[in-house]
Amino acid sequence: MSYPYQIKSYEEYKEAYKKSTEQTDSFWAEIAEHFTWRKKWDEVLNWNFTEPKVEWFKGGKLNITENCIDRHLKTMGDKPAIIWEPNHPDERARTVTYNRLHKRVCQFAQVLKNNGVKKGDRVCIYMGMVPELAYAVLGCARIGAIHSVIFGGFSAQSIADRLYDANAEFIVTCDGAYRGEKVIPLKSVIDDALIGNRTVKKVIVYTRTRTPISMLKGRDVWWEDEMEYAESQVEKDGVVSFPAEEMDAEDPLFILYTSGSTGKPKGVLHSSAGYMVWTNYTFVNVFQYQPGDVHFCTADIGWITGHSYIIYGPLSAGGTSLMFEGIPTFPDAGRFWDIVEKHKVNILYTAPTALRSLMSFGLIPVGGRDFSSLKVLGTVGEPINEEAWHWYDEHIGLRKCPIVDTWWQTETGGCLISNLAGITPSKPGWATLPMPGVQPVLVDDQGNEVTEKDENGMLKGNLCIKAPWPAILRTTYGDHERCKTNYFATYPNLYFTGDGAIKDENGFYRITGRVDDVLNVSGHRIGTAEVENAINMHAGVVESAVVGYPHDIKGQGIYAFVIDSNTHGDEERTRKDILQTVTRVIGSIAKPDKIQFVKGLPKTRSGKIMRRILRKIAEGEIENLGDTTTLLEPAVVDEIKNGRL
Ligand code: WT7
Repeated sequence: MSYPYQIKSYEEYKEAYKKSTEQTDSFWAEIAEHFTWRKKWDEVLNWNFTEPKVEWFKGGKLNITENCIDRHLKTMGDKPAIIWEPNHPDERARTVTYNRLHKRVCQFAQVLKNNGVKKGDRVCIYMGMVPELAYAVLGCARIGAIHSVIFGGFSAQSIADRLYDANAEFIVTCDGAYRGEKVIPLKSVIDDALIGNRTVKKVIVYTRTRTPISMLKGRDVWWEDEMEYAESQVEKDGVVSFPAEEMDAEDPLFILYTSGSTGKPKGVLHSSAGYMVWTNYTFVNVFQYQPGDVHFCTADIGWITGHSYIIYGPLSAGGTSLMFEGIPTFPDAGRFWDIVEKHKVNILYTAPTALRSLMSFGLIPVGGRDFSSLKVLGTVGEPINEEAWHWYDEHIGLRKCPIVDTWWQTETGGCLISNLAGITPSKPGWATLPMPGVQPVLVDDQGNEVTEKDENGMLKGNLCIKAPWPAILRTTYGDHERCKTNYFATYPNLYFTGDGAIKDENGFYRITGRVDDVLNVSGHRIGTAEVENAINMHAGVVESAVVGYPHDIKGQGIYAFVIDSNTHGDEERTRKDILQTVTRVIGSIAKPDKIQFVKGLPKTRSGKIMRRILRKIAEGEIENLGDTTTLLEPAVVDEIKNGRL
């Protein structure tokens, strides 16, 4: 497989960019030609941002799994599609060839069919990072079911909410998942999530940890039994087949829940053809993937990064994707580097928070490793601080690997702003240039394009995108109005990212962080309103306000100001109880790092909490709190300042 649309020089990038904006249709049509279609599209792009409505390759028919698997079988059937590295280094790694992947995905598609799953049904997947998770995802795509993967760190309550929102009838899970020293009891969490649930008909359980679990007769079935049975259905005389469902270009592929500024996560919906083209195009160009390269994306498939750059991008490009079950610090902080050496990783894609955490262990875990296979490094999830960038460059890349800083979101499906490895310039801390097809614009709070440079010669504003790229979200599941208000109504005719950015004289972008009430904790999005709702559920809590503050490792930490009427028990105990409540309601990823008990919160006369003030206090900027005269009770501010943690 070669990639005729791989950009090979800065000049070519400029040409591609120009063409993508001036002749959008022919630009994308030429790229889309390189995929497998049952039927080609009638129209490349049809859109308006008012409804909003976006259709790419309308009229085209395809199945994404034929692009990710079948089309590679003839020439690359024996090549590794997935290399799986288990949690424990003593367990054997597994290599899944394209032939094997084909067989397993066909088998699992048959399992889904046998269990009554049809095109368009929602299947919730709650599994650890095992190859079977990839089979489950692709099995859904093969029969046209909509997968909704939920990260293993979410609680039963979060799962229950998502099952309800998606009206899911099927679940695929594991008995448990290994994460470092821990075993996460996934099936037991699912059992809790299903208390009172009336929609789920079947739960398919893969055995990973042999944790004792309950299997409800009639509802719960074992993956192994089902796969064994399906094997004889899909394989005859050594030939494996399960006909892929013919999908419309715009048929939904998956839902992935993400946090916004309201209390309720949104089910971001991606469709088939556009998402496929975009993840492939960005994978090939940003990382400059070459056939045979081993690509190691350290994300969990429970997040968009895993969907796009462990599964769909690499596999649609016939690549080799390394999937790691464990955590960076088990059995020690050298694990990533062991994996790089052991599997001769060529491209390493990770998050700044992981780098900062590993940096804190010093250079001993890095020492003595053979990093000669590495060609390209990447980061994603949050702005990278220069210190981490230089550490990555010096100690991992040995100053010979370009670092791509990829800015994107769950909603964007793939990278929107990033340098192309070794092709376009990099600048530490800067995502730099937009991908072809991406038209960013910085606007002020009124929605006017920013044209005045600041004292440093930078343009600064709210980051919006003017026109659709192929993998823009199509809707928020079950609530199109919400999609409109969230992304397309703040600034008319623009997609609003929720991020602030600056732009330098070269047109490079630096993302400065969220401008809405969304936190970025260890590269994970958490809505402050969600955390507040969870805290407020604890008995005795009267009100709370949650803000972010700079955290050395996580990027942002969660700071909660809580009014608590609980007269029994000491503060320390209440604090622990609140943490437990948040863990139950959302999951441990949303636990506040700091909880300060206060008597009142700074509010305006209309009763709105002035988060600006709380943010400053949490950040430690207590001297200059700005105008506090509009506050209902200015005195509470001093109390909060004095009790600052
Ligand atoms: C938010 C999206 C994209 C997959 C992982 C997170 C922040 C993401 C960068 C970057 C600065 C970044 C933004 C964005 N973000 N990448 N390279 N530089 N900020 O996906 O959970 O949808 O979060 O992550 O604030 O809006 P997500």
